[in-house]
Amino acid sequence: MIIAIDGPTAAGKGTLARQLADHFDFAYLDTGSIYRAVASLVLEAQVDVNNQAEVTALAQKLRAEDLQRTDLRAEEVGQLASRIAVYPDVRQALLDFQRSFAESPPDQAKGAVLDGRDIGTVICPSADLKLYITASDEVRASRRHKELIDKGVTAIYAEILADLKVRDQRDQSRSAAPSRPAEDAFILDTSTMSAEAVLDKALSLVAGLQR
Ligand code: CDP
Repeated sequence: MIIAIDGPTAAGKGTLARQLADHFDFAYLDTGSIYRAVASLVLEAQVDVNNQAEVTALAQKLRAEDLQRTDLRAEEVGQLASRIAVYPDVRQALLDFQRSFAESPPDQAKGAVLDGRDIGTVICPSADLKLYITASDEVRASRRHKELIDKGVTAIYAEILADLKVRDQRDQSRSAAPSRPAEDAFILDTSTMSAEAVLDKALSLVAGLQR
């Protein structure tokens, strides 16, 4: 079984994806971390982000261990990830890894949960279940703010809100695999839902598939 979870930043995709993977013993791939890993390599190599060919060359050389780089969750890396994610050649370089993870999950898991922006539309268009998780800008900004504060990182709510709007706008308006719900995705607005309520809803949708 393949479960595709898409949606904008800080909507709760990762939390839900991890909980679903734990529940069913499925493999989990946070596809954002792949784009973040390329962004981290771009920073390290001091490659010009406007140079699509050089950024693509780094994406083509990405290794599994790059997904463990320690700076992946930094805001700067998230913003840069969204800038390099507009390049079709970068997306192409990262496609096979994502598809083969979904089709042959590691450790012989019986299914895979992938979260990102284009899982239901491009990576796994025939996924068994497609969810598009969203929430209001303000709710998402305060979730991200709390996440950073809890980690001991200094964060200013107004800046997070502004950055999140810039990133959403870029992700939704790019021509290569724009972030949008697949036509057959179930859209879940989590603005007023707890993480438990979101999980319950998703579990009931999976149960509906098996009926
Ligand atoms: O964790 P958060 O939702 O903030 O972001 P992320 O999922 O780690 O993704 C970082 C950036 O990578 C996004 O803003 C997208 O531009 C890009 N991305 C993408 O284009 N396609 C994906 N499947 C996943 C991420």
